Amino acid sequence: MKIGIVRERRPNENRVAATPDTIKKFVGLGLEVHVETGAGTRAGITDTGFANAGATVESGPAEVLGQADIVLKVQKPIGPGAPVKGEADEVAMMKDGATLACLMEPYRDRGLFEALAARNISCYAMELVPRISRAQSMDVLSSQSNLAGYKAVIEAGAAFGRAFPMMMTAAGTVPPAKCLVMGAGVAGLQAIATARRLGAVVSATDVRPAAKEQVESLGASFVAVEDEEFKQAETAGGYAKEMSPAYREKQAALIAETIPKQDIVICTALIPGRPAPVLVSADMVKAMKPGSVIVDLAVEQGGNCPLSKLGEVVEEHGVMIIGHANMPSRVAIDASALYAKNLLNFVSPLIAEGGTSLSVDMEDEIVKGTLVTNAGEIVHDSVLAIPESASKPKRAAAKAAAD
Ligand code: NAI
Repeated sequence: MKIGIVRERRPNENRVAATPDTIKKFVGLGLEVHVETGAGTRAGITDTGFANAGATVESGPAEVLGQADIVLKVQKPIGPGAPVKGEADEVAMMKDGATLACLMEPYRDRGLFEALAARNISCYAMELVPRISRAQSMDVLSSQSNLAGYKAVIEAGAAFGRAFPMMMTAAGTVPPAKCLVMGAGVAGLQAIATARRLGAVVSATDVRPAAKEQVESLGASFVAVEDEEFKQAETAGGYAKEMSPAYREKQAALIAETIPKQDIVICTALIPGRPAPVLVSADMVKAMKPGSVIVDLAVEQGGNCPLSKLGEVVEEHGVMIIGHANMPSRVAIDASALYAKNLLNFVSPLIAEGGTSLSVDMEDEIVKGTLVTNAGEIVHDSVLAIPESASKPKRAAAKAAAD
């Protein structure tokens, strides 16, 4: 069988879905690997690096996608329902019946899944890897969020006109920066650790009770309304629940008190499949000291701060608000290495001995959790649950943006 890797064509994407290391492993499993020229350039990998690992370098996406039995990508393919202006339809280039594994933004739109099903493509959405011990090495959300949390603090530090650590010098004392991290999941915990390593005084907030101990174990203080609702605020899958309006009001009052004392706010609060909770209001931004910095990692889901703008750095009331899209792509070399390793760990168990065919156990929890299209149909409940009404206008908007 052949594995295909193409250059990522969506905006702000520097990562690549394979590295020389993972290619060597696939070759060792008996597979052929075909890589589009330039696929790794923005992630520090040359064509020669891929070729030396055993891949065949191809001249364009059609040459790769037209023959690949398994397509590995970072971002969802370009196709009906998810076009990119000026770029050709990757779904149309794919071989009928191929297997695809990539980030699909599965809660957003069902149009692309319909197109993949129509081409008889078996598509695995990597965001849906279940959070069970056996799947930890495949968990792309964790590997990428970890780097995003780190980079968010580095971006904040670069934009901040002061230092993070306390410095006692002959010319006077520089006080330590105060950093608040909103949301203490994977990205938030790495942001706490990074800000602490740089010498900031760090606090963090979350709605899941389990987060308190994790935050404190990293040497940060925990800020939260710890009422009865808080004690029940975690789903069986370990994710946050959407909180009631009454809780949100109490939480907002506490954050409003905390925020004016902060220099840096790193926003990472998310609820899977829902818009990001609004936690830092325009009034709170107004109450911050001029020169403070907010990095909103939740900006792609609408943002934890309503003033943040996707893909922009804006200044409001003297506060810089950073809304970079796709933060992991700003650490593309490490992000690609971890993502590619996640994919290798995910795909390897699907390949039969000798690499000549797939051997997929349809009852496997990881397969069931991630497989969205198969045998010409959408087979995943969460995607089937996306109402047509939510899907259609977005498709129309996407088409309009591409025209
Ligand atoms: P996420 O990226 O979905 O959300 C980020 C954080 O925002 C979460 O901690 C969430 O509780 C918090 N949040 C949501 N609404 C909020 C609000 N209104 N105010 C403040 N904070 C709010 O989270 P991530 O990083 O995916 O982690 C979620 C859970 O999954 C955690 O329990 C984590 O430990 C667990 N996990 C388990 C893994 C495994 O078992 N393989 C791997 C990675 C994470």
